[in-house]
Amino acid sequence: MNYNNAVFEKAFATAEQLEESDLPEICFCGRSNVGKSSLINAVLGRKSIARVSSKPGKTVTVNFYRADNVRLVDLPGYGYARVSKAEQQRWGALMETYFAMGLLTLGIQIVDIRHKPTRDDMTMAEWFRASRRPWVIIANKLDKIKKSQIEGNIAEIRQTLLLPEEVPVIPFSAEKGMGREEVLSIIFDHVARKEE
Ligand code: GTP
Ligand code: MG
Repeated sequence: MNYNNAVFEKAFATAEQLEESDLPEICFCGRSNVGKSSLINAVLGRKSIARVSSKPGKTVTVNFYRADNVRLVDLPGYGYARVSKAEQQRWGALMETYFAMGLLTLGIQIVDIRHKPTRDDMTMAEWFRASRRPWVIIANKLDKIKKSQIEGNIAEIRQTLLLPEEVPVIPFSAEKGMGREEVLSIIFDHVARKEE
């Protein structure tokens, strides 16, 4: 299986636009600026199918990328304070509807490997825990820390997010491509299971 032929499929801005899915969906969510869009590019082996920005709040719609027999879903980031109340409400409704539609095959929550997870990260984790859907954590920006820090930082992420043992934390660098093979194999596994 290869995902190099992925195409951008659609972008939805409001909850009403969301559609039922005929394919397994893998969603990428996390704090604004944590590297969700960069990670999708890295996983798909593409330079800029998803738009990346050094300023937070770049992705404001739910963006769908179709690759082979799966759909990757780039969600707008949370926790970006400098957006209006109306915008926050639109975001909330969009997220809630997306999750409530139950399209999700696998949730990928992205955190920053350098920092203790934020309160918003904890809320997101709480949602996944309660939903009982398959869920993995990617600890991105691995290239920004020393090797000697990895283990301790991962332990802190596990503890702060109260992760069940079966939820893996994968150190990753969207910038350098570290962790890509592991994430791809997790995606393949979940898609294969869904197709059985
Ligand atoms: P929003 O769409 O605003 O929610 O952000 P996002 O989570 O999609 O982040 P995006 O991929 O746009 O990346 C944000 C910034 O982080 C950009 O400047 C990226 O180049 C940088 N970045 C992303 N991943 C990595 C990484 O693994 N290492 C380093 N050093 N920088 C990264
Ligand atoms: Mg983005």
